[in-house]
Amino acid sequence: MYILGINAYHADGSAVLVRHGELVVALEEERFRRIKHWAGFPTETIRKCLEIEGITGRDLSHVAISRDPRANLLRKAAFAVSNRMKISNIVNRTRNLKKVHEVRTPLAAALGVAESDLPRIHFVEHHPAHLASAFFVSPFRDAAICAIDGFGDFISTSTAVGSGNHIRMLDKISYPHSLGVLYTAVTQHLGFTNYGDEFKVMGLAPYGTTEFVDDIRKLVTLRPGGGFELVRRYFRHWDEGVEMEWEGGSPTMGPLYTAELTRLLGPARGAGEAIEPRHENLARSLQAVYEECAFHVLNGLWSRTKNPRLCLAGGCAMNSVANGKIRDNTPFTDVYIQPAAADSGTALGAAYHVWNQVLKQPRAFVMDHGYWGTDYADADVRAVLDGRVDLEWRYTCERLTEDSLLDQTAQLIAEGKVVGWYQGRMEWGARALGNRSILADARRADMRELINTKIKFREKFRPFAPSILEEAMDEYFVGAAADPFMQQVYPVRPEKREILPAITHVDGSGRLQTVKRTSNPRYYALIEAFARLTGVPVLLNTSFNENEPIVDTPEQALDCFFRTRMDAIVVHDTLVRRHPSGY
Ligand SMILES: [Fe+2]
Repeated sequence: MYILGINAYHADGSAVLVRHGELVVALEEERFRRIKHWAGFPTETIRKCLEIEGITGRDLSHVAISRDPRANLLRKAAFAVSNRMKISNIVNRTRNLKKVHEVRTPLAAALGVAESDLPRIHFVEHHPAHLASAFFVSPFRDAAICAIDGFGDFISTSTAVGSGNHIRMLDKISYPHSLGVLYTAVTQHLGFTNYGDEFKVMGLAPYGTTEFVDDIRKLVTLRPGGGFELVRRYFRHWDEGVEMEWEGGSPTMGPLYTAELTRLLGPARGAGEAIEPRHENLARSLQAVYEECAFHVLNGLWSRTKNPRLCLAGGCAMNSVANGKIRDNTPFTDVYIQPAAADSGTALGAAYHVWNQVLKQPRAFVMDHGYWGTDYADADVRAVLDGRVDLEWRYTCERLTEDSLLDQTAQLIAEGKVVGWYQGRMEWGARALGNRSILADARRADMRELINTKIKFREKFRPFAPSILEEAMDEYFVGAAADPFMQQVYPVRPEKREILPAITHVDGSGRLQTVKRTSNPRYYALIEAFARLTGVPVLLNTSFNENEPIVDTPEQALDCFFRTRMDAIVVHDTLVRRHPSGY
């Protein structure tokens, strides 16, 4: 039995395919449309899901969509009446909901079937989909579950308890109160106005002080039991409504903060203006207050469940700095966060909600790696290389044995070269995990700036993350938990910080990916080869892209290689090196 899960008409459009309870494909539309956080109807990913599995739309038994326009109607109506919501905002919302209702037409087109032949469609509310995405694929038989985000179907925070194939909702916090909105509003005020820019503020925070903590605390009031409320005068969405729009698939959100917030925190930074210490201090203070609020929610959840295991989802679950502190600030001892914790993951959750909760099937799948995407046949890769690589004096192109490939690549990295690493199935979620990665030597102090200015062309303050052999985690990090999905930040051991300057952030922390031989044998072997040469089982790992979504095809990887100053690229078994004087 096949279930197709879809996140549609929301940012981070995505689709997953589940076969008899086993995940077989998970993809994000942005990789195919080549627009970050692509929003709309994910036609391309739906087609790819079918193509990868070699089935047609007729083979599907169920389609699960992670929106339910009928959910929380009473809360919506009560809010609209009590807040005298503008008619224009209600019309805007109604239009969006109508789109979700009319999903049959684009769905039939994407599946290649008549509307009358569509499989059964389930509308799964956004937050239950987040909760399901976190728990049903986790290794835990039972757990506390929490989803924290901006909003979805009128809800911003939900807590639940999961046992076996069932999730029981405990609490919901609804519009207009939202920790995601709190973070986004100050992010916008700091001049980062693109959808999804919150991670930049998280990266900026360690440079600053907590100077503005007391001011930012004024934006939110904590309530007993894990609840919270935003303070109305600082936020626009309350009275004016701020809807997410998408033009050509690129999601945008209007300003969420009011003039009152600017009076409190000082003038907003214009996009592109210099980052001053004041901005760093605001970022640090926001991160600190967010953490206080998130741990308040989680401690409230723990006191209701007394369960030591936590599954976390929602856009705020991408806050890897806060995630790494959960075990120190709450009684939870084990934390699971699947790699697409933000909205793309609701497609996964919707599918498993149907499989486990609706169809009452037992759980039999654990997501312990992130490689659920596209793969390209080696013959196709060879054809691309033959067609693209200029074999004159500028490049050398060699197909190598496994051992030679690993040794030569490790040697290049140890010599300070920056290497594109393209292997196997694409990663699910926002992070490259060693199949669509750019790799470099974490021991070199100059590497961070080199990659930032010559390859990634991005803000200098943003940190780079390490991949480390799982066995070496405790030797290099303090109190870390193994995480194959790079979702938690931990302190690098003080004596190792000088050894790993390129991946140690200014506050001594690193967002590590632990690599197991069983989940990615070739990547593990490459880090091992690097360790044999250098004694250090750590590589700098950044996503294979340049101000664009992570590359999907070998062609896109080569394009990125050619247009940047990357030194070499490995595509499957082939090593392409740029001649030192060939740029
Ligand atoms: Fe969400």
